[in-house]
Amino acid sequence: MIKWAKRSTFVDLFAGLGGFHVGLARLGHECVFASEIDPHLQAIYEKNFGIRPAGDIRRVGINEIPPHDLLCAGFPCQPYSKAGSQRGADCPKWGDLFEYVLRIIKARRPRFIILENVPNLGKHKDGATWTAMRSELERLDLDVDERVLSPHQFGIPQIRERMYIVGGRSREGGIGHFSWPVPDRKDTPDVRTVLDKRPSEARPLSNQVRRCLEVWQEFLDRSPRSVELPSFPIWTMEFGATYPIEGPTPFSLGPRRIMKYRGSHGVPLREFAPDERFLMLPSHARQWGSEFPRWKIQFIRQNREFYARNRKWIDPWLPKILEFPASLQKFEWNCKGEERDIWKYVVQIRASGVRVKRPTTAPSLIAMTTTQVPIIAWEKRYMTPRECSRLQSLEGLQHLPEVPTRAYKALGNAVNSRIVSLIAGSLCQLESSLDDSHRFESEPSRNLQPNNWSQRGLQVHIYRVG
Ligand SMILES: C[S@@+](CC[C@H](N)C(=O)[O-])C[C@H]1O[C@@H](n2cnc3c(N)ncnc32)[C@H](O)[C@@H]1O
Repeated sequence: MIKWAKRSTFVDLFAGLGGFHVGLARLGHECVFASEIDPHLQAIYEKNFGIRPAGDIRRVGINEIPPHDLLCAGFPCQPYSKAGSQRGADCPKWGDLFEYVLRIIKARRPRFIILENVPNLGKHKDGATWTAMRSELERLDLDVDERVLSPHQFGIPQIRERMYIVGGRSREGGIGHFSWPVPDRKDTPDVRTVLDKRPSEARPLSNQVRRCLEVWQEFLDRSPRSVELPSFPIWTMEFGATYPIEGPTPFSLGPRRIMKYRGSHGVPLREFAPDERFLMLPSHARQWGSEFPRWKIQFIRQNREFYARNRKWIDPWLPKILEFPASLQKFEWNCKGEERDIWKYVVQIRASGVRVKRPTTAPSLIAMTTTQVPIIAWEKRYMTPRECSRLQSLEGLQHLPEVPTRAYKALGNAVNSRIVSLIAGSLCQLESSLDDSHRFESEPSRNLQPNNWSQRGLQVHIYRVG
């Protein structure tokens, strides 16, 4: 039987590990150019896909970039991320990179684009940044739409919200035919589906992390069943603290006026020299400025009230948590109503505290730090890079960076390839229907033969594949 498949060409800008490449190759599309500044990732990309990405996109001449049907770019998110500088276009290292994407679109006029970034791009500067970017794309004759999607909505066990942006040239029908993939809520994902059986290369928990989880387990064991565990983050440093939270901050009150209060874990501030008192407050209270934001006041108040109601069983436990750094003294229990047993869940050590989650999903992989790699608590180990690659639908990659820290970082930066396939599958439907009508007009030869759409500037090729 003769099957037909069409083949569009694409470029992979800020290629990283190649999430776009995997997602598009799965649909039969062909990469004609990639760019990636990191030499280690360039080498891995070449090993996996046989294409050596060009380096810094700022130094790539436009003639080096062949014409293409689809431009893909997961441009760096640090300037827009809540966890980053939030300096947007003013970010000296990455703020200008979107401009280079625009330049390539302007010069090469691809039929479609798919861009990816953090969801906060849509909210950055109260939406002004994305509004400006969108109108720049529209000025280049693109119809544009965007949506936040996450792999867990499609049965993949990772919560990772990302903003996907699609565009199509208005003069050639825009994106009227396109529809966003519809989340498939029938499947409840399960992190166990991506795990290997006790992999020998897995990194075990450090003594400190293991001991800390034991101490938090003791907290859970001591909590009476009649007490509902907080759904807000537990900040133990607020247990016993009395420093003022409404009105002027301790910083604006100054050391003399806060002397009568208690700081972290209830330490009396009067016992410290004036220049030390500020340091005896929780780090979240050592804030310059006149007032705390409302959300912080709310968390502090909830913690103090919880402690006041429960100090009988908390007080004998509290000294045990003091041996750990501040981030480990905070706790988020995201397993409301479930068995109070940390060792049955997925844990992540975040700057904001120890987070315990149901094993339905892994937390979002994070590029900046390997301490936040998800912990499989029932095996007392971290997830391996190979397991994490499945969270990004990159299990088909033959090569990952050999150094685990590099592998985790690259995986934390990558785009989920399955979501790319779902988006591109719909975006290319127009091409598909054009091909269908065209298919009967002229019989393609056995080898690659551009059909007559290419005369209209479209590089849609018809292949005989079977
Ligand atoms: C968010 S990641 C994109 C990851 C990619 N989509 C994937 O699936 O792995 C951004 C990538 O852009 C690369 N990068 C940063 N500045 C660059 C530049 N000036 N030129 C080319 N690549 C750059 C980074 O090294 C990083 O790998």
